Amino acid sequence: MKIGILSGGGDCGGINALIRAAVRRGEVYGYEIVGIRRGWAGLVEPDTLPLEYGTIEDIVSKGGTILLTSRTNPYKKDGGPESVMKNVERLGLDALIVIGGEDTQGVAHKLAAKGLRFVGAPKTMDNDLSETDVTFGFDSAVNVAVEAIDRVRTTGESHERAMIVEVMGRDSGWVAAHAGIACGAHVVLVPEEPIDLDAVCKTVEDRRKAGKKFSLVVVAEGATIGNRNQVTVGQKLDEFGHPVLGGIGPLLAAEITKRTGSEAREVVLGHLIRGGPPSAFDRVYATRLGFAAVDAIKEGKSDVMVALKGSEIVLVPVAQALKSKKVGLEFLRLAQSFS
Ligand code: F6P
Repeated sequence: MKIGILSGGGDCGGINALIRAAVRRGEVYGYEIVGIRRGWAGLVEPDTLPLEYGTIEDIVSKGGTILLTSRTNPYKKDGGPESVMKNVERLGLDALIVIGGEDTQGVAHKLAAKGLRFVGAPKTMDNDLSETDVTFGFDSAVNVAVEAIDRVRTTGESHERAMIVEVMGRDSGWVAAHAGIACGAHVVLVPEEPIDLDAVCKTVEDRRKAGKKFSLVVVAEGATIGNRNQVTVGQKLDEFGHPVLGGIGPLLAAEITKRTGSEAREVVLGHLIRGGPPSAFDRVYATRLGFAAVDAIKEGKSDVMVALKGSEIVLVPVAQALKSKKVGLEFLRLAQSFS
């Protein structure tokens, strides 16, 4: 058996732990595991890397992905899907382990109709895949965000300012909601619900009137003010149609300063929370997923994703997992209960 493994989309903590575990498990079964570089790009134009446990045994604690990643979408290239299928055959790959979020696994799911055999692994710091309690990479991102926001808090308190912290989260505000609760944010803003600027300013003002000049606002990059568009960096879209987001934090800080007359300052955490060493939880979780993915392939499973349900690793249909998981209203209100 020869298994290809690729990582696509944004990197996050735990990808290397998963790769290492899959290689380890594969070797136990006598399988050959081949790394595919830069996500789907490495199958549109073959670009592979032999993987042996002996040479990658030390990567469990390393952030990013040794396979590199890209947002290449074969369906946006002339003959792209056909090239992928041809190259899978040429490389003699019996199945793939596809480490990715909605975009990367969506491609694999479409290719399954052309005969691709694959098992997906739920990777995204956004935590927006369904059918799994959590995606890997999320815990690492939240923990880094919490450490950073705790630091922002003490300087904000000392200067009696409103501090606006922008965190990643394109369409789901899981990171903002979790980090907001963990850091005692007074305002938590997510893409799931348009921002009511008057209400945000009122919270900051009410706190000031009560003698609390420091306010902490955590906002997800994908949140929008009222019915305005998401704030983007330039106009460019990636091959899956996503813009580069960023700037809602600075915009909010400027608006709050203008409307309330109190000084508001912004910090954009951006990629800081996606890179670096994964949390212990993500290292262990991704390791379990790597073993389970190889086992699933051994059992002849395909078009499924390894996932966490309770304390068990289970297999779920990829088609179901692709439904975007949003922050629920109840949880959001919990996060917004501490002004
Ligand atoms: O992987 C998801 C994500 O981290 C989103 O939260 C964010 O909008 C996007 O990736 C940023 O990706 P890139 O680094 O490619 O601009």
